[in-house]
Amino acid sequence: MTENTRNETVLVTGASGKTGRQVADAAKAAGFGVRAASRGGAVRFDWYDRSTWDEALRGSRAAYLAYPPDVGAPGADESIAAFAQRAQEFGVRRLVLLSAIGERQAEPAERALRESGAEWTIVRATWFMQNFSEGLLLEGVRSGEFVFPAGEAPQPFIDTRDIADVVVEALTDSSYVGRALEITGSRLLSFREAMAEISAAAGREIRYVPESVKEYGAILAGFGLSPEEVAFTEALIEELLHGGDAKATDDLRQVLGRAPRDFRDFAREHAARGVWKT
Ligand SMILES: NC(=O)c1ccc[n+]([C@@H]2O[C@H](COP(=O)([O-])OP(=O)(O)OC[C@H]3O[C@@H](n4cnc5c(N)ncnc54)[C@H](OP(=O)(O)O)[C@@H]3O)[C@@H](O)[C@H]2O)c1
Repeated sequence: MTENTRNETVLVTGASGKTGRQVADAAKAAGFGVRAASRGGAVRFDWYDRSTWDEALRGSRAAYLAYPPDVGAPGADESIAAFAQRAQEFGVRRLVLLSAIGERQAEPAERALRESGAEWTIVRATWFMQNFSEGLLLEGVRSGEFVFPAGEAPQPFIDTRDIADVVVEALTDSSYVGRALEITGSRLLSFREAMAEISAAAGREIRYVPESVKEYGAILAGFGLSPEEVAFTEALIEELLHGGDAKATDDLRQVLGRAPRDFRDFAREHAARGVWKT
């Protein structure tokens, strides 16, 4: 059951990012005031600069936490523990952390939140559909030849708008406190099939070209990532995309009472907006 949320404010971190933007919109639609926070946002907030935390927290009752670049990055656990502590000192008791299904590296960050004393919910998601329509991978898709080390294993891609709807329920409804929700789309597609869906929607061929994780790591090193960052990214890709059978889950339907958005609809909608035009 959803509680009355009017006249309450939530802090949304990563508010200009793939999930944060949708969480901010969904929270506003649910009647929350929103403090949209990021380094360059209306409310300045930097995970690596604690002097920005208090102002971001002031006046909120709950917060959505998206930890960039990855919830499993080294140091995420310390930042999340310290932030959760500070949040509670400011009366921000309910904290919802975005995590990833099957990501062993995310366990310390999740543990830090669970042990913080906050009213916590962890929302573990699978690969975002929007990785293909915004952010780092968009240019590769748009080029017509999407080179990526995802192999051929199918994934239950999720729409970030569905993540946002679940996050808002978790911010609102106390029955999700103390729970880890695992949310996915309902249809498993390989990256090759995902590109075929986007090609059909966009009316142009976009080929998937698998490469090895090591080849991808070498490209990242060429872009200036440190050896540690390259090793972390390689391990993450191995684990998330080559780690075994990905499965669709039912948690999203249980929380929202409806099916997840489908990849075909995502592709058609974004193609109509011209996202993959050359
Ligand atoms: N991509 C996936 O498929 C996937 C799947 C499951 C979980 N996840 C998790 O999703 C999280 C990332 O969320 P997202 O994809 O929505 O974000 P995103 O699109 O990568 O955008 C990052 C957001 O965080 C802000 N930001 C960047 N550095 C920051 C810093 N030092 N301090 C505060 N804010 C900062 C950015 O704005 P500014 O530049 O203005 O600061 C932006 O709003 C990660 O924890 C990742 O593990 C991703």
